[in-house]
Amino acid sequence: MRDRGPEATAEDLLEWYDRHARVLPWRVPPGADERPDPYRIWLSEVMLQQTTVPAVKAYFHRFTLEWPTVQALAAAEDADVMAAWAGLGYYARARNLLKCAREVAQMGQFPDTLEGLLGLPGIGPYTAAAIAAIAFDRPETVVDGNVERVMARLHGVETPLPTSKPELVKLARHLTPKQRPGDYAQAVMDLGATICTPRNPACGICPWREPCVARFEGNAAELPKKLPKKEKPTRLGIVYLGRRADGAWLLETRPASGLLGGMLGWPGSDWAEAEPVAMPPAARRLQAACGSWK
Ligand code: ADE
Repeated sequence: MRDRGPEATAEDLLEWYDRHARVLPWRVPPGADERPDPYRIWLSEVMLQQTTVPAVKAYFHRFTLEWPTVQALAAAEDADVMAAWAGLGYYARARNLLKCAREVAQMGQFPDTLEGLLGLPGIGPYTAAAIAAIAFDRPETVVDGNVERVMARLHGVETPLPTSKPELVKLARHLTPKQRPGDYAQAVMDLGATICTPRNPACGICPWREPCVARFEGNAAELPKKLPKKEKPTRLGIVYLGRRADGAWLLETRPASGLLGGMLGWPGSDWAEAEPVAMPPAARRLQAACGSWK
């Protein structure tokens, strides 16, 4: 092990962010007078839960053009929002998005604390912390995969994930500043996305290169270590293709939660590791539905 290097500070990262912050459609650049719009921050964070920044940009533009405020979104037709969401996946999220917009519109505005945000549909600990920090400049610690990677490298944490999670959260919390916590949260995200990347991190230009233990040890690209993932099970099922004489296919809306929740799909059996049984309830539903077709 090396002697203690200089301590990593939020100030060093913020200084880097002031010069290199990514320009993102929901973001207020560092140093600007205006505050971020909580509606835009919330919308971007919900979209980013499942997709990358480049993929979200077009959806974000479309949504904010069509529904520029949370009140506008709350008043939208469900089907219009679902259609605009198509391609982002997980319709349960789109449904929660609308439910949340309607609750917030009723309340008049977004809650501005972590606790208040956690009470809204579709907002878990990560999203609540991100909104509280970015939209309201609350000193909440935002921990996603990027932040875990940055903390593991900066502090040379060799314990594999997920065992190391509590330690990484503690380290992240310790660094979160009281001044500019919103910019700081976004700065760590940007660092993880542009410099401290999973493969080939650009350690030479990192604002935390001096205090970084992994850079010193030369093992940044190997951190964070991860316990082997449980092998994915192979599940089998039966789908039934029903076609009417005029060519129309029979589809059904899948249950709201679970695999492909709320999406259109072929009627079928459950998916299980055992061989599927022919004529499960779905087949009977299909027979019944076809029976009623002209
Ligand atoms: N990933 C998740 N939230 C983000 C944000 N607000 N900015 C950039 N990347 C993100």
